[in-house]
Amino acid sequence: MDSIRIRGGTPLHGPIAIGGAKNAALPLMAASLLSDETLMLSNLPHVADVSTMANLLVELGVGISMNGEAGVGGHMGRVFALRAGDITETTAPYDLVRRMRASVLVLGPLLARCGRARVSLPGGCAIGTRPVDLHLKTLAELGAEIEIQEGYIEATAPNGLTGASIVFPQATVGGTENLLMAATLAKGETVLNNAAREPEVADLAHCLTAMGAEIEGIGTDTLRITGVDRLGGAEYSVVSDRIETGTYAVAAAITGGTVDLMGARLDLIEAVADTLTRAGAEITEIPDGVRVSRTEGRLDGIDVMTEPFPGFPTDMQAQIMVLMAVADGASMITETIFENRFMHVPELCRMGANINVHGASAIVRGVPNLSGAPVMATDLRASVSLVLAGLVADGETVVSRIYHLDRGYERLEEKLAACGADIERIRDESAGSPAPGEVEAGAGGSP
Ligand code: EPZ
Repeated sequence: MDSIRIRGGTPLHGPIAIGGAKNAALPLMAASLLSDETLMLSNLPHVADVSTMANLLVELGVGISMNGEAGVGGHMGRVFALRAGDITETTAPYDLVRRMRASVLVLGPLLARCGRARVSLPGGCAIGTRPVDLHLKTLAELGAEIEIQEGYIEATAPNGLTGASIVFPQATVGGTENLLMAATLAKGETVLNNAAREPEVADLAHCLTAMGAEIEGIGTDTLRITGVDRLGGAEYSVVSDRIETGTYAVAAAITGGTVDLMGARLDLIEAVADTLTRAGAEITEIPDGVRVSRTEGRLDGIDVMTEPFPGFPTDMQAQIMVLMAVADGASMITETIFENRFMHVPELCRMGANINVHGASAIVRGVPNLSGAPVMATDLRASVSLVLAGLVADGETVVSRIYHLDRGYERLEEKLAACGADIERIRDESAGSPAPGEVEAGAGGSP
């Protein structure tokens, strides 16, 4: 398996192109199942999860052609034309769902378009138990009949789905996305109350609207959808990745450099930007992007609690913990979304960080220096936090199991190296490891 070697201590300087959001791309690709016309998606990130979703859709009968590359600021986003003319298969098999939980996003569209879907029930993963009970309960409220058999969700709606007023007892990004897609083709009106407000949900809603769906309240926690008989094709560009943006923003802040995050949107990272500013970094909007710098002094400790959007994102928790680990004084971070998302803590401690976990909170006491070490992590954001730690640590850090990184970060080491970081990918030729963004996403599955 490939690994990444970093020699820390170099401030980052230069531009970094921010790609399309993985977590927007996946539901947008699933939305292609709702129409027999072509959905043209641009600015897709070149990451393994996008390839996994493409493989799943192809298995269901979706024709996908790649129409070259396009993008601003040097970003080479992929363009896919997806056409679900005939859906030939309505089963999402265990092997793909195990590898990528977001495969469950085909459930709503398949049910709405074909009246049936069979999707492997995702198990727990590295960051929590992550049930999909709310997806199933709310689809049942639209009239779906759902059973669990032999590890599969067996869902049918022989007479189609019917609009209803749905109240999510807790905000769920994937649950909102599944229901939103299903409701576009349901009879009558569906109201989704306490819907997730994440920008990726809004991106999906905008794309569905471009396909002919009738949706009000986009960006709010109440989505009102009037079902239509059919959806058509559309051309749509994936929103920029706010988590990739936040990750590189932390990299600039901790190394004491200045980076221009091209294609990034400040309005999508307000909670992260506010946190970084409180810690002592400077964040400014520039044409086509966001500049992040810290040129003087050490960072200050800060307290952070993860929350649904517009709060501080759980997907930035591991990265901000690295900042806390090298800031002055003590910081506290509380994880409220997932119950087991501190798997990076023991690895950061091996690099010299002083972190104590008490239930859902971690107390981080800043240390003057981290020291390089061989490390590995069990999920995407935990893995990237180790890369960030390596960028500030004394000496050499080798991060292994980086197939997690390749699931969600495009050309991570190239982007950092272009800003002066001493970082390289060490390819494991013997294992025949897939190139970043290629089809095989690695065993073990998860986010
Ligand atoms: C999405 O996961 C993201 N994944 C995650 O990104 C992100 O961490 C998460 O939203 C929260 O922002 C994609 O978009 C592909 P949820 P999702 O449903 O949809 C509980 C990354 O690193 N819940 O909003 O699975 C659940 O267990 C990944 O890129 C239920 O109890 O998240 C969790 O505690 C990781 N029952 C909370 O709700 C349900 O039916 C929020 O989960 C559904 C969710």
